[in-house]
Amino acid sequence: MLSGYDLALDYRTGGSVAHAVDNVNLAVDQGSFVGLIGPSGSGKSSLMYLLSGLKRPTRGSVTFEGRDYHGIPAGGLMRLRRQRFGFVFQQHFLINYLSALENVMVGAVRRNHEVAAYGQELLRRVGLGNKLEKRPYQLSIGERQRVAVARALVHHPAVVFADEPTASLDQATGREVINLLADYRARGEGSLVVVTHDPAMLTGADRVLQMRDGKLSAA
Ligand SMILES: Nc1ncnc2c1ncn2[C@@H]1O[C@H](COP(=O)(O)OP(=O)(O)O)[C@@H](O)[C@H]1O
Ligand SMILES: [Mg+2]
Repeated sequence: MLSGYDLALDYRTGGSVAHAVDNVNLAVDQGSFVGLIGPSGSGKSSLMYLLSGLKRPTRGSVTFEGRDYHGIPAGGLMRLRRQRFGFVFQQHFLINYLSALENVMVGAVRRNHEVAAYGQELLRRVGLGNKLEKRPYQLSIGERQRVAVARALVHHPAVVFADEPTASLDQATGREVINLLADYRARGEGSLVVVTHDPAMLTGADRVLQMRDGKLSAA
């Protein structure tokens, strides 16, 4: 469903080149949970940016549902991301003057009563049904990340990309966040790509891949 072929991403700064992603081949099957582990600087985020179309590769190609990103202009890639992908990062990136529910609705492609009801249902599912109107600063750091998860899921993405979603959380809170993401794919709604440096977060994954110096191998 989502595949990268011979992917490479170089960063050029001054006279030097960093090979952030180096000859990577990867397929994410529909409905699968793929984990990416590896030390800091090994290229995990860079690979996620390529797979989600946030960055264009130096070499190689990415296809999603049969379409090669090379044939899609920047605006089209932006729409694809907004409509078909969900993102969770280490930082929650919530808007401080909006309520939890309004923050979730930021992720919605369309806004109507049905979507608002689904946003509320997602917040109930992540255990925040009684905090719909709270602002981010009134929530704990784990609660904020759960709002970010609900925001990433509200438009029923085909693929959820989570880049170190638990890095700011303690182990138990991190586990809860991963379980919420894993539930989404267990409901058959979409695939899950989780980047982490903590293998304990990937116990439910179908496949765990290891990144090292831009190269990918089975873990
Ligand atoms: N914007 C950038 N400019 C130059 N080098 C970068 C940039 N982003 C990442 N890099 C380099 O690319 C490599 C991979 O980085 P990254 O994908 O962020 O790794 P990870 O997510 O595994 O920590 C590192 O050597 C990093 O220093
Ligand atoms: Mg990273």
